[in-house]
Amino acid sequence: MTVSLHFVERGERGAEAIVFLHGFPLDHTMWQHQLDALSAHYRCLAPDLRGFGSSPLPSEGSSWTMDDLADDVVALLDKLRIEQATFCGLSMGGYIAFALWRNHRGRIRRLILADTKATADTPQAKANRQRQAELVRAQGVAPLADEMVPKLLSPDKQATLSDSLRQMILRARPETVLAALPALAERPDMSERLGEITVPTLIVVGEDDALSPISDAQLMYDRLPNAQLVIIPSAGHMSPFEEPEAFNRAVLEFMRDF
Ligand code: MLT
Repeated sequence: MTVSLHFVERGERGAEAIVFLHGFPLDHTMWQHQLDALSAHYRCLAPDLRGFGSSPLPSEGSSWTMDDLADDVVALLDKLRIEQATFCGLSMGGYIAFALWRNHRGRIRRLILADTKATADTPQAKANRQRQAELVRAQGVAPLADEMVPKLLSPDKQATLSDSLRQMILRARPETVLAALPALAERPDMSERLGEITVPTLIVVGEDDALSPISDAQLMYDRLPNAQLVIIPSAGHMSPFEEPEAFNRAVLEFMRDF
């Protein structure tokens, strides 16, 4: 069953569509700089994924997968009568982009994979998610924000962007975080399937990304048959939020050329 997503739409209805898929545990507001700049050229859609931001969770205690999140996005496109779009996913948004490839590839015009990876969670990463779930169950999302914010940003951006990013994480509902963590842990490995993803793909990574480092981007670049790679200086895991001008320039050039 799909969830009807809250979304923000900017730009002309008749223009080519870009759908922005946010990371965990964030919401559509992480794309504010892209919506501001890229809507001059494209129809920009930024949903809150299920349970995040203003979108509802299906029901308390329910479990879901990255494929379910992708189905929600396709239901939104169906409602808006958008046949094909460019999907720009950051981290968890990139995992959803891979789910779109698995299940709805006809809807994909291009992919933009930002600060994400094709590999599955290691056993250590899965154990870490269980620990985070216990923390959130006991104390809510504040301690999760405390531990995540320093890892999400480049050292250069800690002083200026930590507060706004922390506020974004604090808006996440504990129930959503508790449903998302196992879905992240159980996402399938796509690293052996990258060769089949033939659509033009832009890979963007912050040079200081500590969570999906340059080596993850390089692996995708080496295996994707039709990909560009852009490394953004002075950015961490949140490259579109940390260095929006460089990120937007990379997107505009890619959209123009492919
Ligand atoms: C994200 O930014 O979406 C998360 O880092 C994804 C993850 O935890 O794998």
